[in-house]
Amino acid sequence: MTIAEIQQEIMRMKKEQDICILAHAYQGQEILEVADYMGDSYGLSVQASKSDCKGVIMCGVRFMAETCKVLSPDKKVWLANPAAGCPMAEQLDLEGLRELKAKYPDYAVVAYINTTSELKTECDVCVTSSSAVQICSRLDNDKILFIPDPNLGRYVAEQMPEKTFAFYKGGCPRHIVVSAKDVEKARKAHPNALLLVHPECRQEVVEQADYVGSTTGIMNYAKKSDCREFIIGTENSIVEHLQFDCPDKSFYPLAVPLTCMNMKITTLMDIYNCLKGRGGEEIQLPENVIEGAGRCIRRMVELGE
Ligand code: 13P
Ligand code: SF4
Repeated sequence: MTIAEIQQEIMRMKKEQDICILAHAYQGQEILEVADYMGDSYGLSVQASKSDCKGVIMCGVRFMAETCKVLSPDKKVWLANPAAGCPMAEQLDLEGLRELKAKYPDYAVVAYINTTSELKTECDVCVTSSSAVQICSRLDNDKILFIPDPNLGRYVAEQMPEKTFAFYKGGCPRHIVVSAKDVEKARKAHPNALLLVHPECRQEVVEQADYVGSTTGIMNYAKKSDCREFIIGTENSIVEHLQFDCPDKSFYPLAVPLTCMNMKITTLMDIYNCLKGRGGEEIQLPENVIEGAGRCIRRMVELGE
C-alpha cells in the first residue's frame, strides 16, 4: 500500500467507526493529514473535553492519552503506539511528591501536564506550556510548588515576582540539551532570523529568545510575523510543519538533537492497525484516578478560559 492509500483507508475507517484522531504538533506531516485536530497539549485537552465522537485515537505520548480519557471517561481512548511515553512524565512518583509536599506544606501544587494522571490526583491544578503563566497568576495562593519542570517553572516565576516558587529537579531530556552555545552558532549562521523557543529550554536559551511559547504559540507567531527567517528552539517537526505551511519563509532548527524519539515512534500504520482493532492500547484508568486527575485538569481548563 502507498502512503496515500493508507491515509485514504484511515479516513474511511475513522468515519465509519465515528472515531476522532487527535495529533500533537510534534507528529509527522503524514499523520497531521489524517488528524481531525492538531495542536499543543492545552489545545488537545480542550478538544478532548469537547469532542462528541465515540472514540479517540491519540497520536502523541501517554500522558496526552490519559488526559483525554480523564476528560472523556465514557469514550474509548487509544494511544496509537503504546511505547510512546514522555520521560519527563515519569520523573516524579507519588512517594516523591508526598515528600515534597511535606517540605512545602502551605504551597499550591502546580503540575505540568507532562505528569502521570496518578500524580495529578494529589496536585491542586495542572498547567501546560501555553497556559502556565495565566493559571499560576490566577491562583489565590502566593506560594507555588511547580513540578516537575524547573525550566518552565522558572520562566513562569519570572513573570510574577510577587509570588514565591519552589521547584523539582526534573526537565525535558530533549530540550535541556540545547545551550547558549547553540544560540550563538545559530545567530551567527542566520543573523536576520528571529529566535522562537519552547519554555522547556534552559534559562540561558530562553532569556535570549525573541519569543517564548508552546508549540502552537511558536507556529502562530511565525505565521503572523513579517519576518522571513526563524530559528526554532523546539522539536524539529515544528520546523518541518512551518516550512510546509509557509514556503516563502525560512526555518532553521536551533540544534540538531532536538528530536523527541518518543513522539516520533507513532506511524501511520499504528493508526491504521488501531482502527483495524489489532493495535494501539486502549487506556484504562481506575475510578479514583479519573476523579482526582479530572479535578486537577478541569481546574486548568476553567482557569484557562
Ligand atoms: P506543548 O505544551 O507545546 O504541547 O509542549 C508539550 C511538550 O511535550 C513539549 O515538549
Ligand atoms: Fe516529553 Fe520532552 Fe518529548 Fe515533550 S519533547 S514529549 S517533554 S520528552
